[in-house]
Amino acid sequence: MNSRTKNRIALIGFMGSGKSTIGKQLATLMDYKFIDIDERITKSECINIPDIFRIAGESYFRQLESTHLKHAVQEDHCIISCGGGIIESEENIKLLKETSQVVWLRCGLQTMLIRCKGSDRPLLQEENPYDWARQLLEIREGKYATTSHYRIDTDSKSITEISNELYKLILG
Ligand code: S3P
Repeated sequence: MNSRTKNRIALIGFMGSGKSTIGKQLATLMDYKFIDIDERITKSECINIPDIFRIAGESYFRQLESTHLKHAVQEDHCIISCGGGIIESEENIKLLKETSQVVWLRCGLQTMLIRCKGSDRPLLQEENPYDWARQLLEIREGKYATTSHYRIDTDSKSITEISNELYKLILG
C-alpha cells in the first residue's frame, strides 16, 4: 500500500453490513468525499438497481459496477462504499487491493436478514432467501477476507460504535 492509497478507503461486505451508512458517517468525520458505487450506477443509468437486474440482467449490472469502481479509485480523500458483490470479479479485487485501504465490514447471516427485511434488493427476492443467502455468504466470505486489509465485526454494534472503530483503525 503506498502513501496515496492511504487517503482512499473502500468498504466491502455483504448486503446489510452497513457500508453506506457507516461510510457516510466516516466521510463526515474525516471530511472526505463519500462515493457510493450503487448510487452512481443508479444516477448514470437513471434507473434503480432492481430494474437493472430485471431488464438488463446481473451481468450488465456487474459491468457497470466495475466501470464505476475504476472511476472511483481515481479520486483522492474519499470513502468508497461498494456493493456486496464487488468481489465477484477478480479484476475488481486486484484493483481494490492496489488502490485503496480495504475494510471488510463483516456481518452474520441473521444480522443481514434482520437489517435487510423488506428490502427490494434483487438478490433477496428468492423464494427462500435464508438458504440462498447462506450459500452466497459462504462463498463470498473467503473473497471478502482475501480482498480486505482490515476487518470489523459489525454484529450487535451500533453505527456510531462501528464508525468510531473504523476511524481509529484508519488513523492508526
Ligand atoms: C449486491 C448488493 C447490493 C447491490 C446489488 C447486488 C450483491 O448492494 O449492489 O443489489 O451482489 O450483494 P449492497 O451490498 O449495498 O446491498
